[in-house]
Amino acid sequence: MNFELTTLTLSAASSQKCDALIVLVPEGVKPGKDAVSAILAQALKSGDLELKAGKNLQIYASPLLAARRVILAGTGDGSVRSVRLALAAVANVLKSPKVKKAVVVFAGKASGEAVATAVQCCADLSYVYTTTKSKAEPVALARLVVGVEDSAKVKSAFDMACAVAKGVGFAREWANRPANHATPTMLANAAKGLTTTGITCKVHGPAEVAKLGMGAFLAVAQGSAEQLRFIELRYNGAAKSEAPVVLIGKGITFDTGGISLKPAAEMDEMKFDMGGAASVLGVFAALAELRPAVNVVGLIPACENMPDGKAVKPGDVVTSMNGQTIEILNTDAEGRLVLCDAITYAARFKPQALVDIATLTGACVIALGNQRSGLFASDDALAAQLQAAGDAAQDLCWRMPLDDEYGEGLRSNFADVANVAGRAGGAITAAKFLQRFTGSMPWAHLDIAGTAWKSGAAKGATGRPVGLLMHYLANVAGSSKPAPKPARKKPVARKTA
Ligand code: BES
Ligand code: MN
Ligand code: ZN
Repeated sequence: MNFELTTLTLSAASSQKCDALIVLVPEGVKPGKDAVSAILAQALKSGDLELKAGKNLQIYASPLLAARRVILAGTGDGSVRSVRLALAAVANVLKSPKVKKAVVVFAGKASGEAVATAVQCCADLSYVYTTTKSKAEPVALARLVVGVEDSAKVKSAFDMACAVAKGVGFAREWANRPANHATPTMLANAAKGLTTTGITCKVHGPAEVAKLGMGAFLAVAQGSAEQLRFIELRYNGAAKSEAPVVLIGKGITFDTGGISLKPAAEMDEMKFDMGGAASVLGVFAALAELRPAVNVVGLIPACENMPDGKAVKPGDVVTSMNGQTIEILNTDAEGRLVLCDAITYAARFKPQALVDIATLTGACVIALGNQRSGLFASDDALAAQLQAAGDAAQDLCWRMPLDDEYGEGLRSNFADVANVAGRAGGAITAAKFLQRFTGSMPWAHLDIAGTAWKSGAAKGATGRPVGLLMHYLANVAGSSKPAPKPARKKPVARKTA
């Protein structure tokens, strides 16, 4: 989708040609003299329109207005939450195959936050998964114009929101694809498709991963007929001398549990077990748009976790890349096994911060539900930055503890460490396992098991936490030296999500 920000009065909005003009009207609005305002004043006076968020009134083919249909949508107190409710109530319009161009105009003042919310909601609501449907009518919305009183004031919030919308769309699309349409090899090809000025991509296969000594990652992949891929993306937006932020995304393209097989119910949802990987891809898609002055490395260990004659067995001991031996007591605790080797690999970049993103534990869903991602960090400053970025992006997380006592259950009689502890505090013990591989790097871990996708009737990927990560990276960029700007090349042709 194409987004455009413009300064637009209600009177100018009356003459905007489009398939849908959505006027966001807060309570206490003072209608002016233009055509939209006249209708609005009348509707309010007659009581046919309430301005509570979620209430609206539609007008069709009015000779006074250039738009084919106009929706007067109440936004109550004008808060971010109310703007979201107002737009959710017109989702059917945004999804309509007949609506190609929509204009969203704010009646009254609009904060940067509100504008960002409008962009993200319109992008989110107009996404419909069609890739593996034979007859689905694709969403037509190609152009969204956002009209505000003073566009200069909200420009940076708008730019960020557009980049995030792009990244979230990309992440949702890849996470939604079934495992046979999103194999490790296909994910690697999607990553290669993100290559553009300032973004490079290297893909390592099984032989290179073996040579690197990633015994834990190899152990997870060995039960699958699909070859593993280790994806390495780089975005250079700052001076070469600036240490990068390294992002690691768990890329289990399907998690059966392996020999420690999962129960059948809802096992299909384990196609979303590459949600962390999808979010890293989404971040790179967003970086290509926003181009902040920061260096970023994205690492994705991608493979399937399958039961097989060749699969790793409970009790097997493997040697990780950093030399620690691991007793694999439960083959369903595979995420930490692929991540630990990627973490060891990350050390070569001497990162200023290392953040891994993973649908790691069912226990995190029990602890925090589906609202906030679990945040674990060895570094208080990094934790605070990520928490604040989540708040700014409305992509929330919540810090969890990492006391060393939590790691005691990972003791093994046969290796340096076991890959699982008892049932209690499962999200924390998983994080403690990862922490053993982080050395002195400032590290944080986002457990997105509860936030990466929705179950039930609305089953589908959310694209979280692309928003949180982009806000974090933009903040890091704000405090580092920019590189000399390269001439901006057109992105290479790619299927965009
Ligand atoms: N991918 C799962 C975690 C998961 C489960 C995410 C359900 C979302 C919903 C992960 O690989 C896993 O299986 N974890 C186990 C760990 C256990 C064996 C210690 C879990 O959470 O049950
Ligand atoms: Mn598992
Ligand atoms: Zn998993």
